[in-house]
Amino acid sequence: MAEFKRPSGRGMTEIRKMSAKVGVIPNADGSAMFSFGDTIAIAAVYGPRLLHPQHMQDPSTAILRVNYDLLSFSVYERKKPGPSRRSQEISKVTEWALLPVLDLKEFPNTVIDVQVYILQADAGTRTAGINAASLALAHAGIPMKNLVTSISVGKQDKNIVVDLDKDEEDYEEGEGATDFPIAKVANSDEYTLLQLDGKIEPSEVKKALTIADEACEKVYEVQKRALKEVVEQ
Ligand code: CDP
Repeated sequence: MAEFKRPSGRGMTEIRKMSAKVGVIPNADGSAMFSFGDTIAIAAVYGPRLLHPQHMQDPSTAILRVNYDLLSFSVYERKKPGPSRRSQEISKVTEWALLPVLDLKEFPNTVIDVQVYILQADAGTRTAGINAASLALAHAGIPMKNLVTSISVGKQDKNIVVDLDKDEEDYEEGEGATDFPIAKVANSDEYTLLQLDGKIEPSEVKKALTIADEACEKVYEVQKRALKEVVEQ
């Protein structure tokens, strides 16, 4: 059988070129950009600020509110502006991916708004968004036990690959494609997001997670470098 080659020409565990920058939106309390190849996410944090209406306030903690939006011209086929089931789902899972590292008890009755915008999409937007949002929260000075790092692993036919682009997500030969986005607390075994679009054998999950863990270490290096740059400035 011929050896499998990714359509992108990348190695099985090769991540697209990553780039991160902190402090991209001066008027936000914290902000960051994170990209995987042609997928570009920016995140802006506003708060903590008093939550209105008052009956939604929680006197024991701040509330984290994430809004993910894939902009109309970020994709080849113009996306109708405004919220959708998909954007609501991604906003919610991004919130859940970030909450475990945050200590929000210091800010009762407040809300922390995180706006995640996808300027350009080539798959992996939720993972890029989580990486950007995690950096933006750190930049805003919200107490965090660590950064959250995120990447997608997946399958093309029988092959486990990392960081699928859109062509790879649309792969239709053999068993087709599987997308398995994960997020975890950096340098730990604590996963904060595990989603699955497609199929994976239970026996393959461990290998996929090992590949994801190694990839997350590389994501973390890029995040740390971006934070260090802004601290040095
Ligand atoms: O972006 P992510 O992989 O986290 O989520 P997805 O729902 O699996 O979307 C995969 C990709 O499909 C996106 O990154 C976009 O490139 C593309 N997409 C699109 O072209 N138009 C949409 N309305 C939604 C997604």
